[in-house]
Amino acid sequence: MRLLVTGGAGFIGSNFILYWLKQYPQDKIINFDKLTYAGNLENLEEIEKNPSYTFIQGDICDARQVDSAMKGIDVVAHFAAESHVDRSIMEPASFVMTNTAGTQVLLDAAVKNKVKKFHHVSTDEVYGSLDLNNLSKFNEQTLYDPRSPYSASKAGSDHLVRAYHATFGLPITITNCSNNFGPYQFPEKLIPLAITNILEGKKVPVYGDGLYVRDWLYVEDHCRAIDLVLQKGKIGETYCVGGLTEDINNLAIIKKILSLLGKDEEFIEFVKDRPGHDRRYAVDWSKIKNELGWEPAHNFDEWLEKTIEWYKTHVSWWKRVKSGEYQEYYKKQYNMLQ
Ligand code: NAD
Ligand code: DAU
Repeated sequence: MRLLVTGGAGFIGSNFILYWLKQYPQDKIINFDKLTYAGNLENLEEIEKNPSYTFIQGDICDARQVDSAMKGIDVVAHFAAESHVDRSIMEPASFVMTNTAGTQVLLDAAVKNKVKKFHHVSTDEVYGSLDLNNLSKFNEQTLYDPRSPYSASKAGSDHLVRAYHATFGLPITITNCSNNFGPYQFPEKLIPLAITNILEGKKVPVYGDGLYVRDWLYVEDHCRAIDLVLQKGKIGETYCVGGLTEDINNLAIIKKILSLLGKDEEFIEFVKDRPGHDRRYAVDWSKIKNELGWEPAHNFDEWLEKTIEWYKTHVSWWKRVKSGEYQEYYKKQYNMLQ
């Protein structure tokens, strides 16, 4: 099988490629990635010489590049996106271009080249925000209610993917997954930002009251879910994917990280809140469990500890990532919140 992975140099995409080549060494993977600030080929060093792996630097918004990469492809796994909510508040335009328009360019090429399956990697954020004081969860029937430019641009892409199925018969599947954590996550996101700031002796910025809740999933569990959907998922269907069965708020997670790193709570710095901050995410993943037999295999506390160990042993990886453009971004983002 020839699998086109878009955004394979990012956090989840690179974990997915490493996972896939271990599971299915006979398959050919073509990684199509623009290498934005979030794309990093270092993530894939261990397979860069593998004859089953090819890298193409390209932009999903460029129809010519996309059409050429799509030739002879059986299956597309579409990860490429602008993925950080705070950056979408600073500069929404690139989110609409890449996430929404870029997905439409890929869909056109997939129809034209008659791919056998187009899997779209989406987010639980399209469903909006849940209350802290009731225990409801998002599921496949939840109405869309995106509240940030990031989630609105992903919601637009989900609608386009379904529209190409209904209108052009493109064989699609979608997963809407909750917050991932694990190795190679860019340190603009909460968990790697907290770990690396603490390792550098810096404080961790906590938005608002810190009582916001996310539904955390170890990245390999997300890769396993996408694998199952690609192998056995029903064409045209959406599957919600999530991890935790109990709510853990941001402050509690930061306290866990501080304690695992032997530091006290002086490292916590409350800052101004993110505008439009979604209060709580929680995902009901019973459909993918009942239909495809998927459930999370990685326990949060144990794999948070392993993730911290990964950052402790990959200091040169995150130090390089945190230099250059990152410094500009960090100043702009966090000076604004003082
Ligand atoms: P990331 O920001 O780490 O990586 C995104 C990758 O896409 C980078 O390699 C980047 O270079 C590439 N890219 C960006 N614009 C591109 C373009 N125009 N053309 C080609 N490549 C481009 O993101 P991530 O956290 O790995 O997320 C991957 C996907 O999973 C996204 O679609 C995101 O919406 C979705 N998702 C993420 C999470 C999460 O917790 N991180 C959860 C659910 C869903
Ligand atoms: O739910 C899935 C989504 O999870 C993905 O679709 C997105 O691509 C991914 O970025 C993530 O979005 P979040 O906004 O939930 O993740 P982030 O790591 O930015 O923030 C997690 C929580 O931590 C959120 O409540 C905001 C808070 N936070 C974040 C940062 C960066 C802080 O308190 N301080 C911070 O400095």
